[in-house]
Amino acid sequence: MKVSASILAADLADLYGSSQKALKAGADLIHLDIMDGHFVPNLTFGAPVAAALKKRLPEVPMDAHLMITDPARYALDFVKAGCTYVAFHAEALPDAALLISKIRAAGGRPGMAVNPDTSEDVLKPYARDLDYVLFMSVNPGFAGQKFMPEVVPKLARFTAWCRAEGLSLERAVDGGVSPENAGDLAAAGATILVASASIYRAPDMAAAIRSLKSAN
Ligand code: DX5
Ligand code: ZN
Repeated sequence: MKVSASILAADLADLYGSSQKALKAGADLIHLDIMDGHFVPNLTFGAPVAAALKKRLPEVPMDAHLMITDPARYALDFVKAGCTYVAFHAEALPDAALLISKIRAAGGRPGMAVNPDTSEDVLKPYARDLDYVLFMSVNPGFAGQKFMPEVVPKLARFTAWCRAEGLSLERAVDGGVSPENAGDLAAAGATILVASASIYRAPDMAAAIRSLKSAN
């Protein structure tokens, strides 16, 4: 199990220090939540901030989670900024084939995200061309929300479908992920757990990350 540390609940005045802290505590990736105040009711930051962080952490794989209305316009900026993984939402771009191929051609690893209310079926036509999918387990916009357990059977169905199709893409879960639900998510086929509040607000971050990583 890989852990991607979302810096949303970290000290935003010190993105570098907050990222370093999570990496030293065992995180595998740094998750950047990009919000446009339109697709979600919150604003965060854009590609220049991702590029600045990448400059300070050149070896660290970063994943950009684009919660924006117009991913086709901005996704390649995040590849250029040095994000290894770039995921956009199926709800924002139902016809995703062109953007997926552009992200890959630019050297990025494309991913597609779904909100809690969106069926996993929308991912299936693209699964063969994606490096990963991202299942939201809260309605996106804010860190520290309550985990929605209905994602577990949805993820399990998608995992079973992937196995039947012989597909081995990564499956990330994002929102309210904690040591309490990590075991269920692992059993349902998650390969990446995204977490913010449960690690940044934990009394012992390394212990929290260890328990996410050892989930099975
Ligand atoms: C939610 C974001 C998540 C969020 C995770 O809109 O996409 O990445 O920051 O935060 P927690 O783990 O606190 O729910
Ligand atoms: Zn996210």
